Amino acid sequence: MRVVSDRASLRDASLPGDVAVVMTMGALHEGHATLIRQARAEARSVLLTIFVNPLQFGPNEDFDRYPRTMEADLEVARAEGVDLVFAPTREVMYPQGEPAVRVDPGPLGNVLEGASRPGFFHGVLTVVNKLFQLTRPDRAYFGEKDYQQLTLIRAMARDFDLPIEVRGVPTVREADGLALSSRNRYLAPAEREAALVLHRALAATAAAGSVEAGLAEFAAVPEVKLDYLVLTDPMLGPAPAHGPARALTAAWVGGTRLIDNLGAEL
Ligand code: PAF
Repeated sequence: MRVVSDRASLRDASLPGDVAVVMTMGALHEGHATLIRQARAEARSVLLTIFVNPLQFGPNEDFDRYPRTMEADLEVARAEGVDLVFAPTREVMYPQGEPAVRVDPGPLGNVLEGASRPGFFHGVLTVVNKLFQLTRPDRAYFGEKDYQQLTLIRAMARDFDLPIEVRGVPTVREADGLALSSRNRYLAPAEREAALVLHRALAATAAAGSVEAGLAEFAAVPEVKLDYLVLTDPMLGPAPAHGPARALTAAWVGGTRLIDNLGAEL
């Protein structure tokens, strides 16, 4: 496995064709390992990017305290058979400073996560677009855990005619339902217990076909502050009367903001 951090070395590394990319901000866990495993099973070459993208953090968000665990991340990458890791610095990614031109996510970028985190999806799509240009993959793997992000990356690939197949990979959960997230490591034991309400509320919403049941779950755990709980169609439009749907939620557990989602059949 090679590890490069500058553009010239990335260009020189030229991987044999049918390249899959897995983009991360590091702090790798089993969810990331699952993305890498799927990429490894389906592509000739697997490229992993590790970059904590400042553009997608708001002024009062956790950019500074976001976990940086490079050595452990490289161990995971090695164990999962990654061929090449691209781990650029901020200066390599943004040599002119923060870019003035950013990808506009459109109306879907202003709801749910975009409403609570203004500019978040501009930052995500801008860095994903840049990493697509720099790594030139055939396929890219993203977790369904960040469902709105996955939906918007698919839309960007379609609307910008990017010759990249975007694949979604199901969320990996702990046995008790908690979705794996790099931010789970912020949770104290009691907070981790309280955080289980997110999955309970999604399951209740999916089973009942309405958010009322899910809201009742949140009401029973008042220390968790609900941001949103919605039921939509799979493209994040209005929920259908019948057919496939998606339940999505975000909530604060102490100082940690968590998101999760679940497929439903109405
Ligand atoms: O999902 C993430 O870890 C990030 O949003 C991504 C896609 C790597 C862009 O920084």
